Amino acid sequence: MGKAILKVVVGLVVAAGLWFGAMAMEFPPVFQLTFVTFAVIGTLVFLMLDAPQINAPSGWAAFVSVIGFYIVLCFGYGATASLWPQFETGDEQEKIAKILEGKENPLDPWNADEVIKRIKELDEKGQMLSERIKALGGDQPLAATVAVVASAPKAGGSEGSGDVMKIGEEQWQLQECYNCHKIRGEGGKKRGPELDNIGSLLTVEEIKEKIFDPKSFMAEGFEKEWEKGRMPDKFKDVMSDAEGMALATWLSTFKNTAVATPKPIKKK
Ligand code: HEC
Repeated sequence: MGKAILKVVVGLVVAAGLWFGAMAMEFPPVFQLTFVTFAVIGTLVFLMLDAPQINAPSGWAAFVSVIGFYIVLCFGYGATASLWPQFETGDEQEKIAKILEGKENPLDPWNADEVIKRIKELDEKGQMLSERIKALGGDQPLAATVAVVASAPKAGGSEGSGDVMKIGEEQWQLQECYNCHKIRGEGGKKRGPELDNIGSLLTVEEIKEKIFDPKSFMAEGFEKEWEKGRMPDKFKDVMSDAEGMALATWLSTFKNTAVATPKPIKKK
């Protein structure tokens, strides 16, 4: 009996530690509860080790107990999982598919026809570029000219500005900016500012700077969050330059002065 009490006490201490530890690290309440539940289950398992042995059922009784136990577990897991706030299986699958689609290189080195086709395409692009360079004046430094041509969004013919907007909005969804920011009244758990008027406050370049280096600007009134580095400093690693640019371009179109997007203060 003394042993059981000790185990319960240890269990309570662990549970309290997890509860307050998770609170200090600002885990959402669901996580706090989950951690404490694990401590309770752990304590129960340890208590069961000391429990007197029962006569194991056999035959049909054993079969029914196993199935019954399995059903209880399944419902238990299902019910717990449905408590999770953001998790939507369909949504997550779609996001993964999009990421894979973006990264996949469709060029199969064993498919000679395709390789030849790609080389031809590249060759045509090269010729087009050199014609443009000539048209722009051959005396300009080559690198600068190429940069001008490459930065024109319609240079390739396929990338109209509509595509840039689409990619920008997609990045907003993929990178889950909406977890912290509201835009058009959607998303955000009050962790970061509403961004509906960001286009009136920052240029495209500045927005991109803020995304790739969150310490570069600080939203007025969010001093504490800025200090603590609440806005993740990972986007430069998970987005390409073009994707960041598209996201910034899309955001720069939001100029709704009715929304009090805080003033960004230059920090670097
Ligand atoms: C985990 C929460 C979080 C995520 C995710 C997040 N941000 Fe932020 N963001 C913040 C916080 C908090 C601030 C205010 C403090 C600061 O300026 O760093 C902020 C500030 C900003 C600002 C400046 C707003 C102003 O008025 O000055 C912009 C722009 C911005 N975020 C864009 C983004 C974009 C785009 C993404 C997605 C790629 C993103 N954020 C993802 C938390 C987040």
